[in-house]
Amino acid sequence: MRIVSILSLLLTASLSAQTIDDRVEALLKTMTLEEKVGQLCQYVPDQDEWFDAMPRGLAGSVFGTPGAERSNDMQRIAIAGSRLRIPVLVGHDVIHGYKTIFPIPLAIASSWDPKLAELSARVAAREARAAGIRWTFAPMIDIARDPRWGRVAEGAGEDPYLSSLMAAAYVRGFQGDLGPQSVLATAKHFVAYGAPEGGRDYGPAEISEATLREVYLPPYRAAVDAGVASIMSAFDSVNGVPSSANRRLMTGVLRGEWKFRGFVDSDFAAVEQLINHGIAGTKEEAAIKAITAGVDIDMVDATYQTLVAAVRDHRLQEFVVDDAVRRVLRAKFAVCLFDDPYTDETLAAKVWLTKEHREAARRVAQRSIVLLKNQGAVLPLSKSGTVAVFGELADSKEDMLGSWAGEGRAEDAISALEGIRNAAGNGARILFAKGSDDAIAKEADVIIAVLGETREMSGEAASRSSLDLPGTQEQLLESLVATGKPVVLVVMAGRPLSIAWAATHVPAIVNAWQLGTEGGNALADVLFGDVNPSGRLPITVPRTVGQVPIHYAHLPSGRPASPDDKFTNKYEDVAIGPLYPFGFGLSYTSFAYSNLRIQGMTVSADIRNTGSLTGDEVVQLYIRDVVASVSRPVRELKRFARVTLKPGETKHVEFTLTPRDLEFWSERGWITEPGTFRVWIAPDSEHGLEGTLEWK
Ligand code: BGC
Repeated sequence: MRIVSILSLLLTASLSAQTIDDRVEALLKTMTLEEKVGQLCQYVPDQDEWFDAMPRGLAGSVFGTPGAERSNDMQRIAIAGSRLRIPVLVGHDVIHGYKTIFPIPLAIASSWDPKLAELSARVAAREARAAGIRWTFAPMIDIARDPRWGRVAEGAGEDPYLSSLMAAAYVRGFQGDLGPQSVLATAKHFVAYGAPEGGRDYGPAEISEATLREVYLPPYRAAVDAGVASIMSAFDSVNGVPSSANRRLMTGVLRGEWKFRGFVDSDFAAVEQLINHGIAGTKEEAAIKAITAGVDIDMVDATYQTLVAAVRDHRLQEFVVDDAVRRVLRAKFAVCLFDDPYTDETLAAKVWLTKEHREAARRVAQRSIVLLKNQGAVLPLSKSGTVAVFGELADSKEDMLGSWAGEGRAEDAISALEGIRNAAGNGARILFAKGSDDAIAKEADVIIAVLGETREMSGEAASRSSLDLPGTQEQLLESLVATGKPVVLVVMAGRPLSIAWAATHVPAIVNAWQLGTEGGNALADVLFGDVNPSGRLPITVPRTVGQVPIHYAHLPSGRPASPDDKFTNKYEDVAIGPLYPFGFGLSYTSFAYSNLRIQGMTVSADIRNTGSLTGDEVVQLYIRDVVASVSRPVRELKRFARVTLKPGETKHVEFTLTPRDLEFWSERGWITEPGTFRVWIAPDSEHGLEGTLEWK
């Protein structure tokens, strides 16, 4: 029975794929060259080319928003104007929510819970779809190991395994089962856009093939395997080849090796920028290089308009254009755009910012918060006495939303201060000052300092040369600590900040990132103990910017860092290692690890809740290939599991590795070498129970 239904499912899927391909071919046969090239051009509404192209059916896709009426209008113009009645694909940057804003993706990654990423994307897709949006430029799945790069905020951090799980989850959330309710996802920015020199946005990257394959490409592979509809080519260059003209990676790896059947969209004007990269002298040359390399859609710069003449004058063969058009049309059929181009204009009122969506955003935000320090159990706070809240960010709704906040409005968001007030109710007296205020500090039983970055300080074009608390916030913090009152530092930021002074002098530190519409409530849930924090760092927190790049899975040195030996791999003026390691995060309860067992490829341990509250532990499995033909990272994350434990409860956590987990990239491709592997079951990337397994 089961086999029959699986077979019939497969049959239906292949039939519908076949039907789509048939429809694409039938349509393509009737298209003029201009019409074909039109499908490859994406415009911003109201740019000059848009006015000209839209009514003639020569704009294949557009940026869309603010609502269904506008999208329907664009659809009407496109369909009526196009000889072949081809609908337009409306795309938008729906990154971490559309109206209901979720935490920034780096925060969601701190949940170490792909199901929450999927939920956030599903809600975002539902809301965006109600605005007529059928395509989003998300998820950003670039590995980021340099927090100076402002776009660390948009990804899942430094680790390929965690990022791959998150990438696949976002794709599932946005697209669901491809159909009329889906929002097509875009994995971006292909590739290694997160590795620019010096962390300066848009800069070149120099990366070995092994690092590209093992670190930067895996999230893309995961997105492709999850069925992602499109991929965006990056602004950067990798080893001297601009990504938007990289045929080896876009056509060779993506389509050849991975069998990706979706389409590739360029980043904003990235095709024309090939001229700035110095690999094209004219727009036409840039366009030919990009389309030949595998970029199907040219975002906004109208460079692909030159392809018509390029084909006519035999500088480009028409089949290259045809292949790109096929991929675009296939996506339009897959989201049922031809059969169902319009959006119900009453839908938005029913789905935007619903109670259910806000609750989802709050749940995800609660799980995104990382408790970094809690000396003397300052936290959780009691809902009595006087609490003094300090810092401009505490009162900011705008900054709680983070960068790329879609159509999220500040007035719908809950600031930290508001959340704290909501939670305290009539219990605790809440005082507030933006800057230093002795009178308020004196009255307080406890001080909460909400410090960090405004939303503009991270995200695109927001690289920073310092990772310290910006402006005079550090002085404010020092003056608050000097009062002798217990201080809780809440860090709101789009990147890890080097809070070394606070780590020594402030008793409690909560890393809250930027938590979205329900951020203030979620933060208060954690501060007052209604929720036990369970987030874990998806990225290393350095002591100082001078340690960057710093990440846990680094290669070993012949002279490993040692505090007792000068001639080792370290800085002379700062302690060895990060301030807080990858994978780290505390709870209001405590956990103990014991009984590591390794049988074949199965590794297990017992995790016990040794505290007095129920809590979640994120149990992490790391490996190290001890002797190989090339140096292997000192640790690599291979599995993790989130377990909920009641006080005193013990759970046995078991992981089974596969040979693929032991692979690395060599000149011969992926290989596994027999030998000894060190294995850890650990609470973070620096500690844990250690054993060995033999791979024969
Ligand atoms: C960004 C992309 C974004 C695009 C469209 C670019 O500047 O790099 O991530 O999707 O703009 O807004």
